[in-house]
Amino acid sequence: MLHCRSGACEKVKDCSTTIGHGAVTLEGCSRNFGSCPVEQFGIGEYTVEATLARAHECGEWQLPDKTIFVLAGDVDLTWDKHSRKPTMKRYEALANSLADGIRSGQIPIGSRLPSLRQIIAQWGVSQSTVFRAYYLLEEWGLVRAEERSGYFVTPGASVKPGALQSASVPAESTRVDISDLVFSVLDAAKHPGIVPLGSAFPSPLLFPSARLLKSLAQGTRALSPWSTVEDLPPGNDQLRRQIGMRYVATGMSVSADEVIVTNGALEALNLCLTAVTRPGDVVAVESPGFYAALQAVERLDLRAVEIPVHPVTGLDLDALAAALDKHPIRACWFMTNFQNPTGVLLSNEKKKALVDMLAERDVPLIEDDVYQELHFSRDRPLPAKAFDRKGLVMHCSSFSKTLAPGYRIGWATAGRYADRVQRLKLMTTLSASSPAQAGIADYLEHGGYDRHLRKLRAALQTQLASMEAALRRHLPREVRWVTPAGGYFLWLQLPDAVDAMALHRLAISHGISIAPGPIFSATHAFQNCVRINFGHPWSVQIDEAIRALAEILDDPAVRGGI
Ligand SMILES: Cc1ncc(COP(=O)(O)O)c(C=O)c1O
Repeated sequence: MLHCRSGACEKVKDCSTTIGHGAVTLEGCSRNFGSCPVEQFGIGEYTVEATLARAHECGEWQLPDKTIFVLAGDVDLTWDKHSRKPTMKRYEALANSLADGIRSGQIPIGSRLPSLRQIIAQWGVSQSTVFRAYYLLEEWGLVRAEERSGYFVTPGASVKPGALQSASVPAESTRVDISDLVFSVLDAAKHPGIVPLGSAFPSPLLFPSARLLKSLAQGTRALSPWSTVEDLPPGNDQLRRQIGMRYVATGMSVSADEVIVTNGALEALNLCLTAVTRPGDVVAVESPGFYAALQAVERLDLRAVEIPVHPVTGLDLDALAAALDKHPIRACWFMTNFQNPTGVLLSNEKKKALVDMLAERDVPLIEDDVYQELHFSRDRPLPAKAFDRKGLVMHCSSFSKTLAPGYRIGWATAGRYADRVQRLKLMTTLSASSPAQAGIADYLEHGGYDRHLRKLRAALQTQLASMEAALRRHLPREVRWVTPAGGYFLWLQLPDAVDAMALHRLAISHGISIAPGPIFSATHAFQNCVRINFGHPWSVQIDEAIRALAEILDDPAVRGGI
């Protein structure tokens, strides 16, 4: 007997197939086969593959990209729609079966995968097959390993990868012309009183402003009259020591000496990009990706190659390898933790593979890691920098998303480019504000930063749950998103016909901001996507805004004439 294991494959569910003497018969498919009668597939000379290929060609069988069949004798066959070839790897079949369980909710988010012993007993497979299956699930972003505890289902695991789109593989590098579009969207969202679903920051109400003010007073009082000189790049020693200690806490060997304090992460990122490129150079950026990366490429007169980011699996490393072969890429600017806008978290294996791939070719990676501290699982995810052995990773972050956006304090640990970045900092904006550096340093030492972060993460998770409930309540069922494992963004894929720019304009006129998909791409793609922010305490106003968005979605101006 041949059973389809994929619940999504409705047409195949009705089929039963018998295998005899290496031949396959498809039976009971009259409803779906219509013009493609069963006899056409015959008995005798056809193998499983040939039969499926012919069934596929007749156009009546709409198989998903990958379909698993369990053949007689419990042999698994994974049918790949694109290559039209079956594969029979045991670990892939096991991973797919577990993935089905996760996506259908049978293995719930946050739960531990069945133990090694259970799987070996149930599937009759070897230990290494189980581990290969686990690694594959990790690569797909469905589970995450927690040291000495096992594998846990990630929050982002509830949507089938095939259900969400990512950009296609890059063809050519492009000049970037995005700023006008970005400024028009950001300007429109600045009006006071607007519901800030398009904002890039969490609510200031979630930050410990009073305690921070105390640290600012304390830190400023303790400043020596020479601080303006002492705090010149690389920056305030106490602050750099505190930042260095946070690296050490994740087991990384980044010393305080490597830390250069900047005006927010954005300055750190821009300085790093300037340090490793010249006008006309090609830079790899994410698609969709943070618009400021595109603006930096535009400002420095560089060219961009966009590397697809899938909302479930993250950066497409195969596409990156192809782009590195094809283009003289001088630098990459990527996010590995809770990427903006998709929220996707790369597995450690992928981070390491990325670092290794770039190390082989001596290409620097500018790593934007501003959301690292906003993880919902127990442990802080590692940055790609943790796998860097050649000093090629320039890690950039800040306190803007976790503590104090207005203080404008960020940093870069720029590996072998540290001297160049430090000089550029001196040549451009001289230094970060001394009182702000001293204030944050005091807060990190005495203010209870980790306690605050625990509260902030818990608040974000609660807000995420409220936001998802509202989206399910108000928006049409075709709207898709992946539940992120951290950060405060949801990347919504709306029906194909939706024009996100039109949605943005109408939403603004209703007092609601959203971040439309086209601002996250050099080619203004993702016209049916929007990023929304759940970083604000839940309120009736936000619920009303989601309901209003659902109504606006039905407007003919937004639905491209539908
Ligand atoms: C992905 C990403 N990187 C960097 C920044 C800039 O951070 P900062 O405010 O510290 O300059 C932002 C802020 O919106 C961001 O979303």
